This record gives sequence, C-alpha cells and structure tokens, in this order.
Amino acid sequence: MSTNETSFKPALHVECRMRDTDGFVRPDRVREEVTEWICENFISLRIDQRLENYEELNHGGAIQSISVVGFSGVQEDSLFHRLADVQLDVQAYMLHPYVVDDHVSEVRPGQQHDDELKPKTRTMPLPSANIHGLWESFTTRMGIVIYWLNCIRELTSKVSMTKSQRLDPNIVSWNHLVLLYGPPGTGKSSLSRALAHKLTIRLGKYFLRGKLVEVDPQSLFSRYFGESGQLVAQIFEQINAMADDEACLICVVIDEVETLTSPRERAATGNECGDALRATNQLLTCIDALRHRPNIVLFCTSNMLQAIDSAFVDRIDIKQLVPNPCPRAIYEIFRTCINELLRTGVLVPSKSNNEDPNLNMRPESPLSQSVHDFVLIEPISIPRFAEMEIRLYDQPHAPARKLWIISQKADGLSGRTLRKLPFLALALYTFTEPSTIHEGLYALSLAVEHELRAYNPHDTDLSD
Ligand SMILES: Nc1ncnc2c1ncn2[C@@H]1O[C@H](COP(=O)(O)OP(=O)(O)OP(=O)(O)O)[C@@H](O)[C@H]1O
Ligand SMILES: [Mg+2]
Repeated sequence: MSTNETSFKPALHVECRMRDTDGFVRPDRVREEVTEWICENFISLRIDQRLENYEELNHGGAIQSISVVGFSGVQEDSLFHRLADVQLDVQAYMLHPYVVDDHVSEVRPGQQHDDELKPKTRTMPLPSANIHGLWESFTTRMGIVIYWLNCIRELTSKVSMTKSQRLDPNIVSWNHLVLLYGPPGTGKSSLSRALAHKLTIRLGKYFLRGKLVEVDPQSLFSRYFGESGQLVAQIFEQINAMADDEACLICVVIDEVETLTSPRERAATGNECGDALRATNQLLTCIDALRHRPNIVLFCTSNMLQAIDSAFVDRIDIKQLVPNPCPRAIYEIFRTCINELLRTGVLVPSKSNNEDPNLNMRPESPLSQSVHDFVLIEPISIPRFAEMEIRLYDQPHAPARKLWIISQKADGLSGRTLRKLPFLALALYTFTEPSTIHEGLYALSLAVEHELRAYNPHDTDLSD
C-alpha cells in the first residue's frame, strides 16, 4: 500500500488506556504492539467495541482496556469498519487522577495583596479522569465537532513537527484559536474541555503530556482602573512559560470570551470604559505572540458572537455554532441519564411486562389517568440509537422506543435542561423509591411536556 493511497483512507481510532505504571512503560511501545496485534488478529472492528484477550501481549499487564472509539470518515452511521478500508490510529495514554490546581498568579513587587489583582486560572494535567467520558456523552450529534477535532489534530500535528520540518507561522497562518458559540446550555464549555482532553490523547504521538488551563475572564477585570490589560498580559506570560516545555500540549479554555473582547468601536464612542479597551488590545497582542508556539490551542466560548470585537473574530481559525441538541442527540442524553439511574438502582427494571405503572405514582400526578401504552420489555440498560433502530424496530413498547418518542417531543430544549430532566422527573411525578423504568419514562414524558409549556406558554396541546 503506498503512502498516498493510505492518506486518503479515513481513520479508525482505537484508544488503549494504560494502567498507572509510574512511567516504566512507554506509550509508543504499547501503541506499536497493539497496532500490530490488531492488524494480525482482526478483519473488521465495530465502533464502541472493547477488545479482549490482549493479556498475552508483552505489554498486556500495563493495559487496562482497548476500545474502538471513533471513525473520521464520512459514513458516521456505519458501525463496522474493515481494517483494509481504514487507517488504524491507535493511541496509548494514561489518565491522570482527579486533581485541580487553582492557580492564582503571583503578586508583583509593589502590588497590593488583593485578590482582585490576581488573575485566576485552573490547571490540570491531561488526559484527565475529571473529564474522561465527557466527549462520549456528546458524540452522537457532534459529527461536525468530530470533524473539527480531526482538523485541529491535523493542524497541530503539522506545526509540531521537528524544527526543520515546522511550518513557518509567518507564511502559513494558524492562530491556534477555536471559538464555540451558541445559545446557553448547549454544551460549549463542556465541549471545549472534552476537545482538549481528546486532542491530547489523539496527539499522543507528538506530545508526551497535556495541560488544561482554564482562564476565568471575570478575574481579569480589576476594580483598579487600568489593571485589566496587565492582568491579561500576566496570564499569557504564564501560558507562554508553560509552553516552553514543547513536549506538553497546552489547551487554554476561555469561557464567555465576550467579557474580554468587547468591540473596541463601542469604547471609541464612549459606551465602553478604557480599561475594557486595554484588555481587548492586550488579548489581541498576546494571541499574536502565541502564534509561533506549536503546542498551544486556545478554545473560547461565547453566547454572543455579535458582542465580540471584530479583530478578535478575524483571528479565529475555527468558528463553530453549537446549537441545541437534535432529537437523536436528545435520545443519547436521556439514554445515558437513564442508564446511570438504572446502574445506581434509582430506577429498576420492571418486575413483569404487565406491571401497572399507575402504581407508585404521585396521586396528584396526571399519570394516574393513562399510561397503559407503557407496557415494556424488561431492560438492563437502554441501547444506543443505532441498536434501538435495528433490534427493536418492531417493538413499539420497548423502553428504548418509548424514549425515542419522548426525545422527538423534547426537540428545542437545551442540553443543560435535558440532562437534568430524567432525575427531576422522578422527584416531580413519582413517589416511591425505587421507581420502575415504566414509571421513570412516563414521568420523563410529563416533565418534557411541562418544560415545553414553560418555553411556549400559549402552546397548550403538546400531546402529539
Ligand atoms: N449536546 C449535549 N450533549 C450532552 N450533554 C450536553 C449537551 N449540551 C449540554 N450538555 C450538558 O449540559 C450541561 C451544561 O453544559 P455547558 O455548561 O457546557 O453549556 P454552555 O453551552 O457552556 O452553557 P452557557 O452558554 O450557559 O455557558 C453540561 O452538563 C453538559 O454536559
Ligand atoms: Mg459555558
């Protein structure tokens, strides 16, 4: 197979999570051995497949799990991929335990010891146990984000080559700047962190380590007029210093970036204070100065694209609207919530398929009237969307099919609202513990109707 032919093939991503070996096992060795083992032992792989029987490998003892996590080609819906049709991308990584370093930058000589004069950042090593699993909770509706993940990976890997091969940033421009924007609660902040985590894993070939730096933009505004610009400079000095370690990928997340980058035109017309203007100018200068750093990626989020300075917007390489989840993504959000409730025993499978779900409901709940169509087949967990469509297409009473109907009804609600509804629904509409999945699903459908009514108070008929 020639290199050219291979580079046109989509990538199939396999993640090999290593045990904590205190640095005694090299991830590149594990990666090589696992790649070889897969090529010799498998013809095709399925997305989400967990590979077993790797214990006999030389590095088997250092491996905790091997999973097929994603596909970068166009047929996102197909679950099975022949190895002959893909480039196998195996990554080996170790998760850092839960740690957060709330960093307050040092106070310079002559400066007041005042919390308001200290820009705040939170740093944590990547890949991190804090964030692990977050990406997976997004992927269904996030085809476009998977696409961007691959783009950022490609761009970062190309600028991270050895110095002689490195692209000249003065000629080929890439500002390392990504903006996720959209309505509230659509997952922009979570997604930025998940992207940083995933990027560190996918770029394991180029970077031995990763670090997440979360900047609190509010802390960059000083009550002492004129300090904000300096505070911005201070934060970026720290980031620059971290980036001296070129084996470390630094992912910076600036949430609600519009607070830092209000349009300078407004300042010129006197509606914005000069301090904000200085902060914006300083941020632009700092971003320009980071361009030559191959190991920094900046993720920003905003609710208001129009409230961001145009010179900042112009510097952004990737702008991505993050909308409310589509019904299929809603199914995924509900599915993961309900499976978590089942796993922890808050919800239990039904005792029999003929169970009357009127039992165990709050007496005042409208549920006591009619839930007879909720006669369900006993589940252990709710399957993924694709499996539900294939395996349960002729079982309208299966919980997964019911959940799909509820998900379609919930279209228009934000990810944040959707994530809290399954649990909230139990508190609102059921009164015994634990509730069965019959009851949980019906309660959820009521909670969705209630929430939609709150959004559209004039729309009274939401029953179909
Ligand atoms: N599409 C989605 N899939 C899964 N979970 C989601 C989705 N959208 C939002 N969430 C969940 O909603 C919660 C809030 O998300 P987050 O804070 O990232 O939203 P945001 O877009 O940054 O909101 P804001 O604009 O108010 O800052 C998180 O728990 C996140 O996991
Ligand atoms: Mg946010």
